[in-house]
Amino acid sequence: MFHIQSTLYLAISVLLYRCQAKIFTSPDQLTTTTYDFVIVGGGTAGSVLANRLSEVDNITVLVIEAGIDNKDILPVQVPFLGVTLPGTSVDWNFTTTPQTGLNNRVIPYTRGFVLGGSSSVNLLTFNRGSDDVWDRWADLTQDAGWSWDSVQQYYLKSSRLVPPADNHSTLRQVDPTVHGNGPVEVSVPGFPLPIDDIVVSASKQLGGRFAFNEDFNSGNFVGVGFMQSSVGGGERSSAATAYLEPVENRTNLDILINTRATKLVQSGKSGYTPIFQKLEIAQSNTSTPIEVCARKEIILAAGVIGTPQLLLLSGIGPPSAFKNSSIKPLVNSPDVGLNLVDHPLVPNYFSVSSNGTWDDVLRNGSILNATLGEWIGARQGLFVDSPGNTLAFMRLPPNSSALEGISDPAAGPQSSHTELIFVDGFAPFGTVPQPSTGNFITVLTNVVSPTSNGSVTLASDDPFDKPIIDPRILTSDFDIQAMVQAINDAQTFLASSSWQAEFKPVPFGDLATATTDEAKAAFARNNSVTVNHPGGTARMSPYGAPWGVVDSNLRLKMALGVRIVDASVFPVIPECHIQGPVYIIAERAADLIKAAYGLIPGQNTTSPDTCN
Ligand SMILES: Cc1cc2nc3c(=O)[nH]c(=O)nc-3n(C[C@H](O)[C@H](O)[C@H](O)COP(=O)(O)OP(=O)(O)OC[C@H]3O[C@@H](n4cnc5c(N)ncnc54)[C@H](O)[C@@H]3O)c2cc1C
Ligand SMILES: *[C@@H]1O[C@H](CO)[C@@H](O)[C@H](O)[C@H]1NC(C)=O
Ligand SMILES: *[C@@H]1O[C@H](CO)[C@@H](O)[C@H](O)[C@H]1NC(C)=O
Ligand SMILES: *[C@@H]1O[C@H](CO)[C@@H](O)[C@H](O)[C@H]1NC(C)=O
Ligand SMILES: *[C@@H]1O[C@H](CO)[C@@H](O)[C@H](O)[C@H]1NC(C)=O
Ligand SMILES: *[C@@H]1O[C@H](CO)[C@@H](O)[C@H](O)[C@H]1NC(C)=O
Ligand SMILES: *[C@@H]1O[C@H](CO)[C@@H](O)[C@H](O)[C@H]1NC(C)=O
Ligand SMILES: *[C@@H]1O[C@H](CO)[C@@H](O)[C@H](O)[C@H]1NC(C)=O
Ligand SMILES: *[C@@H]1O[C@H](CO)[C@@H](O)[C@H](O)[C@H]1NC(C)=O
Ligand SMILES: *[C@@H]1O[C@H](CO)[C@@H](O)[C@H](O)[C@H]1NC(C)=O
Ligand SMILES: *[C@@H]1O[C@H](CO)[C@@H](O)[C@H](O)[C@H]1NC(C)=O
Ligand SMILES: *[C@@H]1O[C@H](CO)[C@@H](O)[C@H](O)[C@H]1NC(C)=O
Ligand SMILES: *[C@@H]1O[C@H](CO)[C@@H](O)[C@H](O)[C@H]1NC(C)=O
Repeated sequence: MFHIQSTLYLAISVLLYRCQAKIFTSPDQLTTTTYDFVIVGGGTAGSVLANRLSEVDNITVLVIEAGIDNKDILPVQVPFLGVTLPGTSVDWNFTTTPQTGLNNRVIPYTRGFVLGGSSSVNLLTFNRGSDDVWDRWADLTQDAGWSWDSVQQYYLKSSRLVPPADNHSTLRQVDPTVHGNGPVEVSVPGFPLPIDDIVVSASKQLGGRFAFNEDFNSGNFVGVGFMQSSVGGGERSSAATAYLEPVENRTNLDILINTRATKLVQSGKSGYTPIFQKLEIAQSNTSTPIEVCARKEIILAAGVIGTPQLLLLSGIGPPSAFKNSSIKPLVNSPDVGLNLVDHPLVPNYFSVSSNGTWDDVLRNGSILNATLGEWIGARQGLFVDSPGNTLAFMRLPPNSSALEGISDPAAGPQSSHTELIFVDGFAPFGTVPQPSTGNFITVLTNVVSPTSNGSVTLASDDPFDKPIIDPRILTSDFDIQAMVQAINDAQTFLASSSWQAEFKPVPFGDLATATTDEAKAAFARNNSVTVNHPGGTARMSPYGAPWGVVDSNLRLKMALGVRIVDASVFPVIPECHIQGPVYIIAERAADLIKAAYGLIPGQNTTSPDTCN
C-alpha cells in the first residue's frame, strides 16, 4: 500500500475552495419521505441516475449514500494520490476471507464510501471493452439492447475526450473519432515519462501479439497502447464531479449522505408478486430506522457488495441464506450474492539503472511536496496521472495450454485474456514495500477473462456488519495459467532491445528466482491482489430465465418496484477496466426507466403506487 505523509496534504487541503451544496447529512432534514424514485447509493451508477432522472422536472428523486461528501478531499482530486485512498475515510475497509488461491492470504477489498462511490477512489483507467464484450451480453440476455451497436449511444453520452494536462499533441496516442460528448472527462497521460517511448518502440519492434493499438476504446481491445483515464485538466473526473455536482441544487433532487439503506420493505402485492417500494434507512446500528417510499421504483445502485447485502437483509435471495437467521425469506432468488468475479493483479518489479523513475517522490518529503506544489499551483507534473501511462491487453497464444479442454473464456477475438500495465516506478500495490533505495519499474499483470468466481454472503442480520466477501481469486486452472503467461509476456516484452540501454530491466525480489512456470505460479499466489473490478452478484439474465437476479431491463425478478443498476448486474465480467461499462449500464438504465414511466416515448410497464 502507498503511504504518503498524510499531514502534508491535509494541511494543504484546507486551502482549497470550499463550496456548500444542498446535501443533507441527516434524515431529519428531509422535507418529505415520499419520492418518485429512491436511489440507494450515490456511487458511480447512482450519480448517473440521479442526474438523468432529475432532468425530468416533475419527477422527484432521493439519493441515499452511506458514505461521506467527496468535496475538499485532496487525494480524491489528485490523480496520482488515488493510490493512497484504501484504508482511509473514503473506503468501506472490507477484506476478503482467507483466499485458498492465494495461500490463504486475506486481502483488502476497497470500495468507495463517498459520493461518486468507487469512481471517486479508483485508479481512473477508462475503457468500454471490445465490441465482443457487448455482443456477448446481448446473447446471454437475449436482448439486442445490450449489443455493441445499441450501447454505442450510451458510451458517447457518458464521456468525452479532453486534452491531457500538459496539452501535448496526442496524435497516434488516441483516436478522437471514437469518443463522445458526455460529462466524464477522459484523457491520455498529461505527464509523459521516459518509459512511454520505450513501450511504443518495443511494441513496434516486436509486433505480433505486442502490436500497437492507437485506441482501446475503438472496439478492438488487443495490443499495446496509451492509457486513457477519467482525468480532465489534471483532476479526477468522477461520477460525483461529472454527474452529481452540476445538478446538486435541482429542487426535485435530494441527496442524503452518512445514511445507509438497511432493508427493502414489502409494501404490497400484485397477485402473488410482492411489491417493494418502501425502504428503511438509518445512520447507525443504534438509531431507529426511518422509512422512505418510492411511488415508482427503488433503484439499487449500492455496488457489487452493498446491493446483494441489502437484498439478503430484505429476505431476497437463496432460501439457504435464511435457514439460520431471523430474516424472513420473501423472494426465492437463488443467484443473489453468487458469481462474484474479479480480475487478479500481480506486481512484477524490475530494477533499472536509470534514475528516470519517480521512486524518490514517494521516499523524499521535499520532492513529494514540490510535486504536490506543481499540481496545486498549475495542475501540472507527475500527479496529474495515476501510475501507469502505457499498457497492453493480450490474447493468450492460440496453442496455450490454458485454453486446452475449455471454451475460450474471452468474449471474442477482439477481447483480451490478460493485461500488462507499465509503471515508471515501484508501485507498491501488493505485499512488497518499496525498497529505500534504487530505481524500479513495475509491470502489473492482470487476468481480465477469469473463470474463478465466489460470493458475498451475510455475516449476520445486522445491516451495519460487514458481509463475508469470498472472490475465490486464482482458484481455476485457467486463471493461474493465464497469469503465468502474462508474467512471461511481461519478461518477453522487456527483453526487446528497446529496453536495453538505461532501462535494462533486471527482475527484482522473488520474481528474480521464479524462473520456471511452476515457480511463477507460486510467485503469483504469494503476490496477487485484485484490480478491484468485482461484478456479477446480481446477474442479468433473459426475461423468464430461472438463473440471474434481474431481467435484461434490470428489474428485480419475481418482485415489483425494484431495479438494480450497478456492477452487480454484469452477466459476465467484461475484459477491461469496468467503470466505463458501469457508466454505460447506468445511462441505458436511465432511458429504460424513463421509457417505462412514459417520461420519454416508449413502452410503459409501471408498477402500482403502494406508498399510501
Ligand atoms: C481501488 C479501486 C481501483 C479501481 N480502479 C479502476 C480503474 O482504474 N478503472 C476502472 O474502470 N475501474 C476501476 N475500479 C472499479 C470501478 O471504480 C468500479 O467497478 C465502479 O466504480 C463500480 O460502480 P458501482 O456503481 O457498481 O458501485 P460504487 O461506485 O462502488 O457505488 C456504490 C455506492 O453505494 C454506496 N452504498 C453501498 N451500500 C449502501 C447502503 N446500504 N446504503 C446506502 N449507500 C450504500 C457506497 O458507499 C457507494 O457510494 C476500481 C475500484 C477500486 C475500488
Ligand atoms: C411528467 O411530465 C410528463 C411530460 O410532460 C408526463 O408525461 C408525465 O405523466 C408527468 N409525470 C408526472 C408524475 O406527473
Ligand atoms: C475505514 O478506516 C478509516 C481509517 O481507520 C476510517 O477513518 C474510516 O471511517 C473507515 N471506513 C468506514 C466505512 O468505517
Ligand atoms: C493546446 O494545444 C492546441 C493545439 O496545439 C492549441 O490550439 C491550444 O490553444 C492549446 N491550449 C492550451 C490551453 O494551451
Ligand atoms: C449549489 O448551491 C450552493 C449554495 O448556494 C452553491 O455554493 C453551489 O455553487 C451550487 N452548485 C451549483 C452546481 O450550482
Ligand atoms: C453497533 O456497532 C458498534 C461498532 O461497530 C458495536 O461495537 C456495537 O456492538 C453495535 N451495537 C449493536 C446494538 O449491535
Ligand atoms: C446458527 O446461528 C447460531 C447463532 O448465530 C450459531 O451459533 C450456529 O452455529 C448457527 N448454525 C449453523 C448451522 O450455521
Ligand atoms: C461460477 O462457478 C461455478 C462453478 O464453480 C459455475 O457453475 C458458474 O457458472 C460460475 N459463474 C460464472 C459467472 O462464471
Ligand atoms: C539523473 O542522472 C543524470 C545523469 O547521470 C543527472 O544529470 C540528473 O541530475 C539525475 N537526476 C536525478 C533526478 O537524480
Ligand atoms: C530529498 O531530495 C532533495 C532534492 O533532490 C535532496 O536535496 C535531499 O537531500 C533529499 N533528502 C533525502 C533525505 O534524501
Ligand atoms: C512544501 O512546499 C511549500 C510550497 O509549495 C513550502 O511552503 C513548504 O515549506 C514545503 N514544506 C516542506 C516540508 O518541504
Ligand atoms: C506454441 O507455439 C509457439 C510458436 O509456434 C511455440 O514456440 C510454443 O512452444 C508452443 N507452445 C505450446 C505450449 O505448444
Ligand atoms: C404510463 O403509465 C402511467 C401510470 O399509469 C401513466 O400516467 C402514463 O400516462 C403512461 N404513459 C404512457 C406513455 O402510456
